Amino acid sequence: MVQIIHRPRRLRKSEALRSLVRETRLSADNFVLPLFICPGTGVRNEVSSMPGVHNLSVDEATSEVSAAFDAGVRSVILFGLPETKDELASGAFAEDGIVQKAIRSIRRTTPEMIIMADTCLCEYTSHGHCGVIRDGEVLNDESLELLARTALSQAEAGADVVAPSAMMDGQVGAIRETLDDAGLENIAIMAYAVKYASGFYGPFREAADSAPSFGDRRSYQMDPPNAREALREAELDYSEGADILMVKPATVYLDVLKMVRDRFDVPLAAYHVSGEYALIKAAAQKGWIDEQRVMLETLTSIKRAGADIILTYYAREVIRALS
Ligand code: PBG
Repeated sequence: MVQIIHRPRRLRKSEALRSLVRETRLSADNFVLPLFICPGTGVRNEVSSMPGVHNLSVDEATSEVSAAFDAGVRSVILFGLPETKDELASGAFAEDGIVQKAIRSIRRTTPEMIIMADTCLCEYTSHGHCGVIRDGEVLNDESLELLARTALSQAEAGADVVAPSAMMDGQVGAIRETLDDAGLENIAIMAYAVKYASGFYGPFREAADSAPSFGDRRSYQMDPPNAREALREAELDYSEGADILMVKPATVYLDVLKMVRDRFDVPLAAYHVSGEYALIKAAAQKGWIDEQRVMLETLTSIKRAGADIILTYYAREVIRALS
């Protein structure tokens, strides 16, 4: 018989032993629940490609957030479906815009909830792009002012965190300066710093009605094969004043997440996006996988790779599973 000295199996013998030596633990405080706010009252429309996710009118969202808080969710991020869209995304920065209304209502009802607002234009532009268009091109510098106005109106409505996701160069700096000039220097910025042009956003574009009417987002979102470029993007947002950096999507970019983790000491977020959620849901509905187990394994992998914060449509379910 060979002499085996090290036997890793010794510490896998029982759940108590496995738990004793567990390296990564999910906790309820890690999760951010995305919500889609739509016009009307009493509206609760399920998104067909995202079972369990709904478009909610402000009143419904408000009660949903209050119930989520009772269930342990401590943070939400809001996306808006405006009544009307136009070339310049005026609904994104209107004082009575859909997200601004939702922020005020949630703030009143559930004051302790951390309210994050996604700062982008694509849900509000008639063409569905994340910036201003001229001659078929998405203009960078002309879009910054609109993004900064959007962030300002979200912060004025009561958001704790604004989260610029348009991938315009300089957007974090423009927003930081605008917030500071308005005396809102304590509003944090969570930068979608490393955001890839991904096929995994498909179901979100149904949920937020934000698919571009022509072309795609490859001229501003990152090219999926690039990893070193992610460090440059993260560096830029960090130097412009981002408080939290984000990598998105999460699971197919765990290598990138790890690289950003190793290089930066600011809190790091990862967005487990709509398509990543839909894949698990669909296979589970067919009975092909154990949904809870795959959900936990997936979210654990994101944390293990280095995320402190995970944005996920599974926020409620994972918190329930952990309690
Ligand atoms: C806005 C935005 C998108 C997502 C978050 N913010 C869509 C996009 O860039 O097309 C995607 C989130 C998801 O798929 O869950 N620009």
